[in-house]
Amino acid sequence: MSQSIYAEIGGREAVEAVVSDFYDRMFADDDLTPYFEGVDKQALFAHQVQFISAVAGGPVEYDGEDMDAAHDGMGITHEAFDRTAEKLEAALRENDVPDEHIATILDDVEALRDPVVEEDVAAPAGAV
Ligand code: HEM
Repeated sequence: MSQSIYAEIGGREAVEAVVSDFYDRMFADDDLTPYFEGVDKQALFAHQVQFISAVAGGPVEYDGEDMDAAHDGMGITHEAFDRTAEKLEAALRENDVPDEHIATILDDVEALRDPVVEEDVAAPAGAV
């Protein structure tokens, strides 16, 4: 994960624009919102900021172990993970992040699939 991507996207302000777009897309997907039930919208927004920071080398560093612990017991499926990655890609494109950076960010996201996805735990009711 590289600090330079975060910087090259345009730092905090640009990252917030991507996050806001990503958030809208996540929240509009009824198949994903059950994962965030009981989590308020503020916390969801905070999740997206941390998410982007984690994969774009922002000020806060996360590794696989952190991601494993953060998503423990949530039953996140491959399908939910795929959809999340697709929404992130759409948000990055929408905000004119250059293709090369999008590719690197998506690679970094993919690297966190194993710690985040939990196939032996049931997904929340109504979620994909
Ligand atoms: C590469 C993929 C992902 C990254 C980098 C990521 C990042 C994070 C981070 C940094 C946190 C906060 C951990 C902390 O408290 O320190 C978190 C929590 C959380 N994540 Fe993710 N996440 C990913 C995928 C997902 C997916 C696919 C879902 C569900 C569709 C999800 C749902 C949640 C929820 C519900 C929380 C707890 C929120 C709260 O209680 O405040 N995450 N994630």
